[in-house]
Amino acid sequence: MKFFIDTANIDQIKEAASYGLLDGVTTNPSLVAKEGKNFRELLEEIVKIVDGPISAEVVATDYKGILKEANELAKIHDNIVVKVPLIKEGLKAVKTLAEEEIKTNVTLCFTPSQALLAAKAGAAYISPFVGRLDDISHDGMDLIAQIVQIYKNYNYKTQVLVASIRHPLHLVEAAMIGADVCTMPFDVIEKLFKHPLTDIGLEKFLSDWKKANQK
Ligand code: E4P
Repeated sequence: MKFFIDTANIDQIKEAASYGLLDGVTTNPSLVAKEGKNFRELLEEIVKIVDGPISAEVVATDYKGILKEANELAKIHDNIVVKVPLIKEGLKAVKTLAEEEIKTNVTLCFTPSQALLAAKAGAAYISPFVGRLDDISHDGMDLIAQIVQIYKNYNYKTQVLVASIRHPLHLVEAAMIGADVCTMPFDVIEKLFKHPLTDIGLEKFLSDWKKANQK
């Protein structure tokens, strides 16, 4: 399973990359706005830190505007994946971009039928938002299972990128289902390492070792 970090914060990206387990980065307009930096310059920094797919989202909502922004973003670096919202104009643009061999990540997916449309349009990734579905009392993981099954049935190459992850269990459940990628906020990545029994166990090993006067 591939691990992406869901942030536009350079310090967090550097720290997560230093663990040697990071395969890519996803950003969105809200995450970029939080950083208060120029979008293009931010992307130029990110591509130097992580050698993997970096999702950068368009803000246009019409076909021509999406294509224009997508082409500008794609020119920044070969690893840029253009993130496009799951709307009619967006999917029309995804189809054209696929023909131009520009990779896309279709975002804001909340139903399996939307995911099927994105695959048919030729998206490289589909981003179903599990946390936001959980927030409104729908089981977000059901959506992941449905999409994975549908893509398998028809051998679609679109990768299932589980987004809006809120805790480590989301990652575990997505991995059990066989999703291709999970994009996680920095705090979730940090939590993956943690278990109180690991800390207690290590403390005991080290204190026993010290008591035995081992060098
Ligand atoms: C997906 O790529 C989005 O950036 C993100 O996962 C949304 O997460 P949120 O629902 O926590 O904002």
